Amino acid sequence: MPLDIDRIRADTPGVQSGLHLGAAGSALAPRPVLAAMQDHLALEAEIGGYEAHARRAETLDGVYDRVAELIGAQRREIALVENATVGWCQAFYALPFKPGQRILTSEAEYAANYVAFLQRAKRDGVTVEVVPNDASGRLDPAALEAMIDERVALIAITWIPTNCGLVNPAAAVGKIARARGIPYLLDACQAVGQMPVDVGDLNCDFLSATGRKFLRGPRGTGFLYVREAWLETLEPAMIDHFAAPWVAKDRYDLRPDARRFETWENSYVLRAGLGAAASYAQEIGLEAIQERVWGLADSLRQRLRKLPGARLYDLGEPACAIVGFTLEGVTPGALVAALRKKSIFIGASDPESTRLDSEARRLPVLLRAAPHYYNTEEELDRFVTALKAATA
Ligand SMILES: Cc1ncc(COP(=O)(O)O)c(C=O)c1O
Repeated sequence: MPLDIDRIRADTPGVQSGLHLGAAGSALAPRPVLAAMQDHLALEAEIGGYEAHARRAETLDGVYDRVAELIGAQRREIALVENATVGWCQAFYALPFKPGQRILTSEAEYAANYVAFLQRAKRDGVTVEVVPNDASGRLDPAALEAMIDERVALIAITWIPTNCGLVNPAAAVGKIARARGIPYLLDACQAVGQMPVDVGDLNCDFLSATGRKFLRGPRGTGFLYVREAWLETLEPAMIDHFAAPWVAKDRYDLRPDARRFETWENSYVLRAGLGAAASYAQEIGLEAIQERVWGLADSLRQRLRKLPGARLYDLGEPACAIVGFTLEGVTPGALVAALRKKSIFIGASDPESTRLDSEARRLPVLLRAAPHYYNTEEELDRFVTALKAATA
């Protein structure tokens, strides 16, 4: 069923403030997300943070169910954290590595993940190796298969990179990882909220994501999925008395669920927003969302192909809702700032955020336009008209 865009826009106060194509950075929150946060904040002001938590305990506890439902997980497999990077690092730094072991990753890997690889290479003597792409620019599962030996301790890839429409074959990678018994950590930061995500289909052991991008949740939220089989064995790199209750003077017991990767204190205002965002996405339907946002992005690509001086940087097919491009003779930072003055909001992607890909393809700073389902074809027309004016 087609989405009711009028209703969706009426539910999105931010569409009144301008033309927003920044879902890959942070998307516009819908009213229920805003309301959930405002209500909880007001309650905290009225009766204090601890009392507000107690009064809303059921709803707040339900956030684990909402996030679990969103990705086909069980609630005990979810840890709620501050952002995708914290979730990813919690899993990554918990994994024990021995000198000589290998980490296999993707060319599209995000900077935060890669520097962590480098740190563990320095600290633990592991090597970091990049799985080549196929001719279309997607990670090549056959190449991955050929690289596997008994020294591979982790496969960690980025599903959708920050800079373009590439969608890596995350499920094919998972099939290989599971068949070979190798832990698989998937960065799904740009995927959650723009398409269906099912940890069962993906066969991943760990998955990290953020709230503020395509999921339309608040900044400062993210989550980590930890497959049940790991829950009782994986010791977090850092713990507190929430992750591991202090049960005797000389002993702690790790929690039996993924919340061993959390700490005691949290923003319940933000959590309320994250839960509302997960519910909202599911009410609209992730398949319908994907169809709409990928369709809008393709429509934008078609317009950009006709724009003199525009160059697209997508890899692989089909491409997702992140459109990376340049305009001849235009400095991306200056253009983003000039568009901002006209209340048109897009982002830019620095080569350092995806250094392997950027060096391999000699990428400059890319302009990044990422529509969401609340955008319209008319807005895309306006956007491209503004680009034309900027290059004239
Ligand atoms: C592919 C990818 N992974 C991870 C991250 C980090 O997410 P966060 O800022 O929520 O830690 C980003 C952020 O842009 C990203 O694009």
